[in-house]
Amino acid sequence: MQKPCKELYSKYFYDEEGSLLFEQICELDEYYPTRTELSIMQQHVQEIATLLGPDCLLIEYGSGSSLKTRMLLDALQTPAGYVPIDISKELLLQSVASLASDYRGLEILPICADYTSTFRIPAYTRPSARRVGYYPGSTIGNFDPEPAKLFLQQIARTCRGGGLLIGVDLKKDFNILHRAYNDQQGVTAQFNKHLLVRINQELGANFQINQFGHYAFYNPGKGRVEMHLVSLKHQVVRVGNVEIPFKLGESIWTESSYKYTLEEFAQLAAKAGFTVERVWTDSRNFFSVQYLTVQ
Ligand SMILES: C[S@@+](CC[C@H](N)C(=O)[O-])C[C@H]1O[C@@H](n2cnc3c(N)ncnc32)[C@H](O)[C@@H]1O
Repeated sequence: MQKPCKELYSKYFYDEEGSLLFEQICELDEYYPTRTELSIMQQHVQEIATLLGPDCLLIEYGSGSSLKTRMLLDALQTPAGYVPIDISKELLLQSVASLASDYRGLEILPICADYTSTFRIPAYTRPSARRVGYYPGSTIGNFDPEPAKLFLQQIARTCRGGGLLIGVDLKKDFNILHRAYNDQQGVTAQFNKHLLVRINQELGANFQINQFGHYAFYNPGKGRVEMHLVSLKHQVVRVGNVEIPFKLGESIWTESSYKYTLEEFAQLAAKAGFTVERVWTDSRNFFSVQYLTVQ
């Protein structure tokens, strides 16, 4: 069945260039999530490390630059190993090289994969007391509710008997959300359009990048920020041998970022088999870091 709206998966943002653009977004004044999550981690990392316990195997989903992970690794007691998983190969390799030189005793077992696919946790040498997933950055917000539940269930199976430390962005004044996804320098717009650059480069397409506009807004009914690329004219784009018509104003939906209340997220976590053990937030209640456990 044909979908009502053209759509691309947000995981395709992240090649080497896309990951660099995301790193730039994290530095923007308007983009509060990274700064806020880092400050929560800074403030509570000792308590977090105590809850995760000694000898845990840390499995990070979408590890990116592993910046927040460093804080955790500094505080964790004798971690059994670190398994960073990311789709963006170059950034994963760079981060692992840099971690390996800074954390010499730590066994690092990187996996370059789509984390929604099936993959095996590599064999590691030190015995682990439990597996703990780490999923920061509110990347869970990129999933619609049903796929979010299925993905959390997948993590629950992997980390059974352990837990999941997760960053979850919270519902707030839509003006703050609007600014975060519509920065003045246009970095988010460039990140969004990077999808078309990739399709041109990797699939031999002929998107005219400047004929698509970045459009991001908060949809209160759905509780999500939607990011789109809107065709600025009537045009036909060729992708390989296929011609794709666009009407003036027609959009390609490129990303959703769901925002949660603490109650909504607890319900989602429960559906996936997790119990919320502890929630840390910032003073403005913009963002939360949560520790969930699974039997
Ligand atoms: C929003 S960024 C967050 C990066 C970092 N964890 C942080 O908190 O700043 C999402 C990260 O997940 C990775 N990613 C997104 N979708 C993925 C997928 N389906 N499989 C594996 N990695 C994915 C991206 O490459 C990127 O590094």
